Amino acid sequence: MPKDTVTIIDNATGKQAEFPVKRGSHGPAVIDIATLNKELGMFTLDPGFLSTASCESAITFIDGDKGILLYRGYPIDQLAEHSDFLEVCYLLYYGRLPSKKEYNHFSHMIMRHTMVHEGLRDFYHGFRRDAHPMAVMVGVVGALSAFYHDSLDIYEPRSREISAHRLIAKMPTIAAWAYRYSRGEPFPYPRNDLGYAENFLYMMFSYPTEEYRVNPVAAKAMDLISTLHAAHEQNASTSTVRLAGSSQANPFASVSAGVGALWGPAHGGANEAVIKMLEQIGDVKNIPRFLDRARDPKDNFRLMGFGHRVYKNYDPRAKIIRQAAGDVLREMKVNDPLFDIAMKLEEIALKDEYFIERKLYPNVDFYSGIIQRAIGIPTSMFTVIFTIGRTIGWISQWAEMITEKVQRIGRPRQLYIGEKTRDYVPISKR
Ligand code: SDX
Repeated sequence: MPKDTVTIIDNATGKQAEFPVKRGSHGPAVIDIATLNKELGMFTLDPGFLSTASCESAITFIDGDKGILLYRGYPIDQLAEHSDFLEVCYLLYYGRLPSKKEYNHFSHMIMRHTMVHEGLRDFYHGFRRDAHPMAVMVGVVGALSAFYHDSLDIYEPRSREISAHRLIAKMPTIAAWAYRYSRGEPFPYPRNDLGYAENFLYMMFSYPTEEYRVNPVAAKAMDLISTLHAAHEQNASTSTVRLAGSSQANPFASVSAGVGALWGPAHGGANEAVIKMLEQIGDVKNIPRFLDRARDPKDNFRLMGFGHRVYKNYDPRAKIIRQAAGDVLREMKVNDPLFDIAMKLEEIALKDEYFIERKLYPNVDFYSGIIQRAIGIPTSMFTVIFTIGRTIGWISQWAEMITEKVQRIGRPRQLYIGEKTRDYVPISKR
């Protein structure tokens, strides 16, 4: 049986060393190069981590070539069809589907932790009314550390569980209040008698002056969006949470670091950028001009919502969201011209050599804005909605990292290309 190792030879010195190969349940094997520096006095270099695994994880798996996404082994399309977001939260955090009794207890507990400390409400008033809601999210989520001292022993499983429950439960309240604050409107308290997604939409759109009933179509669409955005291997924001948490920072501070990373238009901010792009295109007849720009290496315009570091096939989440967007528009009798532009853009791009050659397909962000517009979510809130869904992915990955057999601080090395050592020159001699 051949040894499961690879040998690296430094041709400059003739030195060589063997490194173990590790194989997982799915996907490419990895070379464990932890001893590379000791054996050969070298580091690896891989900006953007194109070929680098940062950890072992059992939470999600993506097959980018086949367009497959698994949450704890379950295909995302089956969960989208048969599960709901709170069940997916249970699955991602505990690693298995709950029994009916466990599901009811978990849901009951989450829905009874949706209120936040009254002192946190005052936090909002420090922001300008026109602050981007993601700026508010970064601040308020980070501030949670200042209110929940009682459950910050990160090596105590029950403390981790309480922090996870608090984050899952309170994110919709914090998010809805960021929206209400931007409009100068009162902050509705969460309601325990509503479902998770229904409660969020209630806090977004209800007024104290009249009864407000959440449209069940909108609540179901919101729940699906959260399920589809829940977790996605070691993406930029999840890796940020892991790195922040590896310093033993508390879970609220670590998750607030992830909120900041998600905001970028290359990552979770793409859903907002897609709508702005579709509005800029404005009419299907303008699509060729924008495709020319996307193909032009001198133009930094990119087709937002297209392309992915891992998916070199259709993002399975985009397929589900596109179908759901059509259903929601129909059921809510909403006619959104941007949806027609998006579908035409996809049709043309997928036949275009530039996109075919680079295996650029629609990703989760391409259609998610269409469905959010249909249920009345303003564009500025799209990445905030992504934050609500992704919180469970972040906190599950954080807990997995904290409980690793050998948990150590993440501290990448570098290739130094700066000045060689030189002596200080007094200013009188410069
Ligand atoms: C998310 O990691 C995750 O899992 C993220 C996410 C999650 O659930 O957490 O899936 C969520 O962030 C989805 C991605 C959302 N971002 C966008 O839609 C922004 C637009 N897409 C790109 O900026 C880009 O595709 C990335 C950032 C998503 C991926 O970039 P990569 O893997 O670093 O690829 P690259 O920049 O090296 O591009 C490879 C080639 C380049 O052309 P060449 O230099 O080879 O000629 O493809 C081109 C790029 O110019 N390219 C695009 C393009 N995306 C890549 N050209 C036009 N439009 C695009 N959208």
